[in-house]
Amino acid sequence: MNKGVGINEANQTLTPQLKVTGGRKLSGEVRISGAKNSALVLMAASLLTDDDINLRNVPPLTDIACMSNILLSLGAKLDHRVDNLSINSSNLNNSSPSYELVNSLRASFFCIGSLLARMGIAQVPLPGGCRIGTRPVAEHIRGLHALGAKIEIEHGLVSAVITSPQHRLRGTNIQLRCPSVGATETILMAAVLAEGETVIENAAREPEVTDLIGLLTAMGANIHGTGTSTIKVIGVRRLHGADYSVIPDRIEAGTFLLAAAITKSKLRIAPFIPEHLTAVIDKLQEAGCILKQDGIGVIIQANELKSVSFTTQPFPGFPTDLQAPFMSMLTMAKGASLITEKIYENRLQHVPELQRMGASIVLHKDTALIKGVSKLSAAPVTASDLRASAALVLASLVADGTTYIRGLYHLDRGYAFMEKKLRSLGAYIDRLNP
Ligand code: EPU
Repeated sequence: MNKGVGINEANQTLTPQLKVTGGRKLSGEVRISGAKNSALVLMAASLLTDDDINLRNVPPLTDIACMSNILLSLGAKLDHRVDNLSINSSNLNNSSPSYELVNSLRASFFCIGSLLARMGIAQVPLPGGCRIGTRPVAEHIRGLHALGAKIEIEHGLVSAVITSPQHRLRGTNIQLRCPSVGATETILMAAVLAEGETVIENAAREPEVTDLIGLLTAMGANIHGTGTSTIKVIGVRRLHGADYSVIPDRIEAGTFLLAAAITKSKLRIAPFIPEHLTAVIDKLQEAGCILKQDGIGVIIQANELKSVSFTTQPFPGFPTDLQAPFMSMLTMAKGASLITEKIYENRLQHVPELQRMGASIVLHKDTALIKGVSKLSAAPVTASDLRASAALVLASLVADGTTYIRGLYHLDRGYAFMEKKLRSLGAYIDRLNP
């Protein structure tokens, strides 16, 4: 089984790593967890009410633990049982999460909108860039300013204050310069308690935004235009508690579809909402995979793979979060594929690692030319970011020999029980030095 890399090589370090021996077909059914990027923002939205917010289907991820710590630091009470998370924010006593906490999770900046609407003041450190790009938050800040907040940015801290005598933000028209998911969510959370009507134009249409609107509506918010790029919010004075289930994680589902594709296997993946992944389904079908809706799930059957090309785009276009895993699949497809990454300026760091595994990829600026090869070979590799880690796991499933993958910190941020799930489908995968 250890054809590729000597076992000694893996044992030289106590670094956590995945050990994957490639070449196994997968079969069976995999359960998709709740969506990380929804759950994180729904947690931020829980700050908008005194009442209990009960979230179901919350995935067990380190990012969720980080967000929990942020809410705790603000004075919220949390009760987390399996995938059920109850949050009570009736005794918020801090409007200024620490740099240490915010720095560990970029999405925590998104709580600035709910914190401001609820407490009248929010001081949140600028999150800074991350490995995949600079990731500005200018649109979030511009939106809050348009809603009447007084904003100051000094010493790396964004201070937002409501100065109106009514202690409420005021509704307005906001035209986003780009359909930012986070900015749309931040503005939504601020606008639901504002006085009057807010219209967000060029809003993001991602399913996670729709999920946030679902929770806010369940809490008593008045929002129109769900799933479109023009969202209208009529502010209310108060929001109440709610019991709400997070949507299934479309990126995790897509990653398992690609696991089936690259290993030329048949899998059932559930729960699965096809409308959340239309662009990905189209490309998988173009590559030769057969997909069939099966109750609340989907069955994918993959055989020989053909090359396909795509450019990442905001929803409903091809999602950037599946660009890296899809590239892994295309390294084994017949012919030449082109992938262009248009959302982030530095999200092709998996390319050198895939090249080390024998993939034929030529990079030119934001575009990768991938020529399918008949075989990948195992090598020690390191994940540079969350989705790159998934890409390396997929490549290792078909590589000749045993691959050791480091950088699992990234994987654990966004994939619940990845190796357990793959093992249950028949993969030879283990975690060393957990
Ligand atoms: N942008 C700006 N100005 C802004 C905000 C964004 O120019 O003020 C640009 C960004 O630089 C980027 C693009 O807009 O080029 C998209 O950024 P967006 O704000 O939509 O992304 P986000 O809200 O920061 C969320 C997900 C990401 C996912 C993107 C795009 C969360 C917590 N994160 O980020 O998820 O890639 O939307 O779909 O919801 C991941 O899960 O691996 C991940 C990175």
